[in-house]
Amino acid sequence: MELRVEEFQNVNTINKIQNLLYEVVERNRPFSGHGQVATYIPALAKASPSDVGICAVDMNGIAYGAGEYEKKFTIQSVSKAITLMLSIMDNGSEHVFSRVGVEPTGDPFNSIIKLETTKPHRPHNPMINAGAIAVASMIKGENQNHKLERLLNFVRKLTNNNDIDIDEEVYISERETGNKNRALAYYMKNEGIIDGNVEETIDLYFKQCSILVTCRDLANIAAVLASKGVSPINGERIIPENITTIVKTLMLTCGMYDDSGNFALRVGLPAKSGVGGGIIAIVPNNMGIATFGPSLDSKGNSIVGMMMLEELSRNLELNIFQ
Ligand code: DON
Repeated sequence: MELRVEEFQNVNTINKIQNLLYEVVERNRPFSGHGQVATYIPALAKASPSDVGICAVDMNGIAYGAGEYEKKFTIQSVSKAITLMLSIMDNGSEHVFSRVGVEPTGDPFNSIIKLETTKPHRPHNPMINAGAIAVASMIKGENQNHKLERLLNFVRKLTNNNDIDIDEEVYISERETGNKNRALAYYMKNEGIIDGNVEETIDLYFKQCSILVTCRDLANIAAVLASKGVSPINGERIIPENITTIVKTLMLTCGMYDDSGNFALRVGLPAKSGVGGGIIAIVPNNMGIATFGPSLDSKGNSIVGMMMLEELSRNLELNIFQ
């Protein structure tokens, strides 16, 4: 059967992106040896540093993948972008941002220092641990299980994957070792930022970080953000458009922690990283991208993931400031 001109162009574009992803993975694989896998959560130390994966989902819901893009890992801090959306949907942005600020810290993701040294004593932004714990405390539900189920169902919709669940081993490991997060939470309870039970809040935070995903799942989430809250796979509106705008803005300014400025210069896309090795990046109205590579730099961002995003952004001219 002969293809019409548009169909031929579509097939060409699809092949071009798919081939580019294969090349990007193979060219950057050597960087997977740089950095170190996270060990401060003991279960994460089992990750294989040579894994490299990338997936992109376009506005027609077509997925392109290369490398270990279907391997499962824990979402970790990428979840902070998701819980922020759910919390704003539950409470409105005014309420959420009365308890959590919107300014970058320039400090490590788990730092406690600015909570005490700057006024008001509230987390600087929702992308650092303190901010995400405060955000988790505002997620609505009749009880702990209901809150978690609501969060998991939201992630299942965003990923278009009903099998999304928690990695019990990582969750237990976080719970056993997450004392600094507990310290942040108790400090915020003292300051009236957290209303409810601190242990329940922190438990929900540990569980949200332990959600198992693949690059493909994450790219689907990124694609929903790229298409302003509508799933490109089934056309369902999942998030109000104005909330996706807020989250993308905070991803750009704070999503890569104290490397956010450098990442914005190198890649020019809103992004969010996690210590499981995942990064999501949003190309507005164009595609969602996710990378995987568990070896991290000193700031907790995947080295090979950032390298691949930089190359892809340059090659496809994706920088939103261009
Ligand atoms: O609370 C923690 O430290 C981890 N569960 C998540 C931190 C994280 O992913 C930071 N990211 N780069």
